Amino acid sequence: MSQETIPQLTAFDVAALDRSFGELLRSVQQEAARMVSADDREKFRLYWLGRKQGRLKSIGEAWLKTAPVEAKKAIGQRFNQLKEQIEQALDAGSPSVAARAAGRSAGPISDALDITLPGIRPGLGAEHPLIKTLHEVVGIFERMGYSVGIGPEVETDYYNFESLNFPPNHPARDTQDTLVVAGQEKKPLRERLLLRTHTSPVQIRTMEQQPPPLRIVIPGKVHRNDAADATHSPIFHQVEGLCVDTNITFSDLKGTLDHAMKELFGSSVKTRFFPSFFPFTEPSADVQISCIFCSGKGCRKCKHSGWIELLGCGMVDPAVFGFVREKQSAYDPKKISGFAFGMGIDRIAMMKYGISDIGLLYSGDMRFLEQFA
Ligand code: PHE
Repeated sequence: MSQETIPQLTAFDVAALDRSFGELLRSVQQEAARMVSADDREKFRLYWLGRKQGRLKSIGEAWLKTAPVEAKKAIGQRFNQLKEQIEQALDAGSPSVAARAAGRSAGPISDALDITLPGIRPGLGAEHPLIKTLHEVVGIFERMGYSVGIGPEVETDYYNFESLNFPPNHPARDTQDTLVVAGQEKKPLRERLLLRTHTSPVQIRTMEQQPPPLRIVIPGKVHRNDAADATHSPIFHQVEGLCVDTNITFSDLKGTLDHAMKELFGSSVKTRFFPSFFPFTEPSADVQISCIFCSGKGCRKCKHSGWIELLGCGMVDPAVFGFVREKQSAYDPKKISGFAFGMGIDRIAMMKYGISDIGLLYSGDMRFLEQFA
């Protein structure tokens, strides 16, 4: 929009005036159509309506000066009309007007928002059956005076294995098919990262931080390189338990777990302990509960044995205390003893809620989840 020369008015009859003003209006409209930004609009405004050098003013002055007296009124009227048309073009190009025309909000309050419409009610959430079970188990131990701890899911080989008395290349490592973090080969074995295969590394981490007496439960996710099927998932949940004090015996372990199982599955549930092996407990045991589906009579669920195996446990191996003594000398196996246990929460949730496929717990399928709301 460069400042052009002022067009001359040569005839003053109505038809000639209309033609001349028609031409002016056309150039107003052409320029208005090219406005995109707020900047463009301001330039347009100054060009046409600027008080000192606005085109409307210059043309008006020039035309009125040369016009015969009888034509001045008609010219004045047409200038007023043209001014209105320019102002309308400016309004039409303003962002708020454009947005309103497009039905979008132009500011905090706009015509597009109808506050009389009913709102969208957010659906009420519910605890996932896994988390519900996890809280239930943790709650049972909290009521027995246990505190709750957590630890990292990405763990070092040292905490996941070595400090739990799984030496490098020990065959016991093969029982926990491990997902390792790539590109760690240059590090010493004990510093290499992996996804923890159990919550037991948090036993060590906790003992390094706190001297005995210790009563702690550790809920969390664990990972194993297992192919997914109805009873296996590469990710699952455990609750670990650790109790260390003077004079802790296997009877304390039995009493604690028997009570916990009765709280979890009902007071008629019985427990029994079978010899087992874990590198970090000695002696070690697997705990079975009487089948909650057939009350021990024998059914398909318990493979007609009347018993269901539910968790691993044992007395803390003195070698494990050996690994933490550097940082906490009070873990002297001559003075203290302890027990530990670990249970799979997925399995417990599946038993409690009659879920036959572990995959459902991780599918995010609302049709499944809504049954627990
Ligand atoms: N960490 C063991 C597992 O995942 C379970 C366990 C925990 C056993 C504590 C004994 C003591 O198999």
